Amino acid sequence: MAIESYRLNVAEVIEETADARSIVFDVPAELREEFAYTPGQFLTVAVPSDQTGLAARCYSLSSSPHSGRHQITVKRTVDGYASNWICDNLKAGDTMRLLPPSGIFTPKDLDADLLLFGGGSGITPVISIARTALEKGTGKVVLFYANRDEKSVIFAAELTALSVAYAERFTVVHWLESVQGLPSQEQLSHFATHFAGYESFVCGPAPFMKAVTTALKDLGIPRERRHQEKFVSLGGNPFGEVEEVLAAQATLAEADDADEPDDAAPERFAGPVHLEVELDGEHYTFDDWNGDKVLLEFLEEKGVDAPFSCREGNCSSCACVVLEGELAMTHNEVLDGDDLADGIRLACQSLPLAEKIRISYNG
Ligand code: FES
Repeated sequence: MAIESYRLNVAEVIEETADARSIVFDVPAELREEFAYTPGQFLTVAVPSDQTGLAARCYSLSSSPHSGRHQITVKRTVDGYASNWICDNLKAGDTMRLLPPSGIFTPKDLDADLLLFGGGSGITPVISIARTALEKGTGKVVLFYANRDEKSVIFAAELTALSVAYAERFTVVHWLESVQGLPSQEQLSHFATHFAGYESFVCGPAPFMKAVTTALKDLGIPRERRHQEKFVSLGGNPFGEVEEVLAAQATLAEADDADEPDDAAPERFAGPVHLEVELDGEHYTFDDWNGDKVLLEFLEEKGVDAPFSCREGNCSSCACVVLEGELAMTHNEVLDGDDLADGIRLACQSLPLAEKIRISYNG
């Protein structure tokens, strides 16, 4: 099923480094509400492809919501079709098809103390969080930013400016592989130990994310204070125009530790399910979910504005937490073992396994 997509004008293309571009979109007044976002969310864009018609890719918004801008930042990846196409071809005045903002890699409390880790282009959602928390929040913000070398540091000047403007609250630590080598788990752990009470957000290449996450786990930082962003290209076509898209390809990081997908149909609960849902401060109760459709479709049918993007178990936009009962997923490409142990499920893939189920979208 296709999601409603929108064609937006490219207002500006900014050369951030030799191999990274920021793309600023014009969002007309009538789409402002549809395109409202929280820091850390991403946009899904349709990139034209000779072979397949289009390729769908998710890129984090690097702007902050209060700036009024909608800016993504794209770094070339070796053999990455979409990122190279964007960096080579896109210019101001072009148009692109997009899906509205989505994603759950976003702080619930902007006043919290934040410990941010960005590896390479993984800085994009992280700088959105940092900008927003500094401007709108009151807590401390610490950023560990790892790059190959000085030339590859995206947003270097802005980070310097922020650390001057918010000297009391913002600390940025640059780690250059060319100078210090890759950060080891032990070094990351030593760094993070000073901020163990902070809310942590991690985005970057898979080995970097794994090292940071393991370091944070070893420090005993609980799962609810460890947030990580993974992007995989969409295996299907959410734009609904062509039958194929390019094969799945990691953009910022591969969900290499995602559980093996389980495509076997789960045994659903045969009978009406008592379902309670918390979403955006609202509480909903239903007694007529028969397990004949997945949770997301059931909620949509009931007029509940539940979040989603890919509908394929690939993006985690629809993630919810099971508070009581159990859901079984038909497909999962994005949640890892920790996520599953914490009760996180993808509503677009979930069927009921219990007579009473209580879920929350509030994390
Ligand atoms: Fe993408 Fe459910 S909507 S995983």
